[in-house]
Amino acid sequence: MESGKDITQKVRQGYAEIAATGCGCCGSSQPDKLASQVGYSAEELAMLPDGANMGLSCGNPTALADLKAGQVVLDLGSGAGFDVFIAARKVAPSGRAIGVDMTPQMLDKARASIGQFTAKTGLSNVEFRLGEIEHLPVADASVDVIISNCVINLSADKPQVWREVSRVLKPGGKICVSDLALKKPLPETIREMAIALVGCVAGAVSIDQTVEMAKAAGLANIHWTEKEYAFDIMEDCNDHLYQSVKDALPKGQKLSDYIVSINLTAEKSVAETLTPVQKELIAIGASVTAHCQSCLIWHLDKARQDGASEKEIDMALSIGKAVQKGSVSAMESFVNEQQGRCVPSHESICTFKETKQEQDPKSGKSSCCGR
Ligand SMILES: C[S@@+](CC[C@H](N)C(=O)[O-])C[C@H]1O[C@@H](n2cnc3c(N)ncnc32)[C@H](O)[C@@H]1O
Repeated sequence: MESGKDITQKVRQGYAEIAATGCGCCGSSQPDKLASQVGYSAEELAMLPDGANMGLSCGNPTALADLKAGQVVLDLGSGAGFDVFIAARKVAPSGRAIGVDMTPQMLDKARASIGQFTAKTGLSNVEFRLGEIEHLPVADASVDVIISNCVINLSADKPQVWREVSRVLKPGGKICVSDLALKKPLPETIREMAIALVGCVAGAVSIDQTVEMAKAAGLANIHWTEKEYAFDIMEDCNDHLYQSVKDALPKGQKLSDYIVSINLTAEKSVAETLTPVQKELIAIGASVTAHCQSCLIWHLDKARQDGASEKEIDMALSIGKAVQKGSVSAMESFVNEQQGRCVPSHESICTFKETKQEQDPKSGKSSCCGR
């Protein structure tokens, strides 16, 4: 079995050759056709620097991302800069698009295109960094949106990629991925073909595995869709890469029997930014509010184990009591109001507001209280 380093080296070598020859994945002979079939507009493609679209993508992650001006976007495995240039226009003028790629030849191509991008668009909000997506050269919690187009399947350590995604996303940030996924295990012969690895086929895993990795990294709100059409475009072409893989398939089988093209989105939940102590303090307050004594005992114990101070615990208990009292008072006041009476509650409605009694000059009824 090959080590992760060997796999990474093969992938890097494969993409160095593709960068040099411009020839690799299917569609490279007609990259704009492939791109427009997966939803890139003619205008988006026209504004790209020459050669940025190498026909290496298998989806349109920027279309999923609903990008807004001012956002910081990071493209994992940016190749010649295709989606970075597309994203940069969507987040302009104050936002930035950063591409990370481990193949120096790809990075050279992307960087060489920045001048033409600026000339066409007047923008200079793109940047390309050399690095592996398993060890992103990007600061913690600094990115609004991560995009990736046909890259994560190439990684020899996918769980680590997802952990990095979680690390660099801001709380509330999201990732939008287009990639290839396995419908069923590939024949051994194909799994061992370097060309199938570089062609984004041999390294693919199932959607369930991807979802598990994203969840384990702390991401939430995970959604995906499958789309056959993008893969069929590749399958129909005469590219030598896909042709070799097709030839190695058992008789009567098609690549699309094994591989599907997917779009997946996930978010870094804001809750993930809470410390264990903060989570326990919230749970203490919620236990009081919910009158759940066994929950309270459990969370008090856990909070102390996690290092919460007695002062913090006391505050959480007080807030829980206040919220609980507030809801009782609010209901009491509401009932009073329905009865045309105002019996000022012992505390105010929501405890934090002052109670006051007002009389409606028309009806003479008192109304409650502190709203
Ligand atoms: C299929 S191409 C996609 C390029 C680009 N996303 C596009 O759609 O045009 C894969 C790219 O990912 C890069 N790549 C593959 N594995 C990588 C890794 N582990 N870390 C960083 N870049 C990687 C390759 O160098 C290559 O440029």
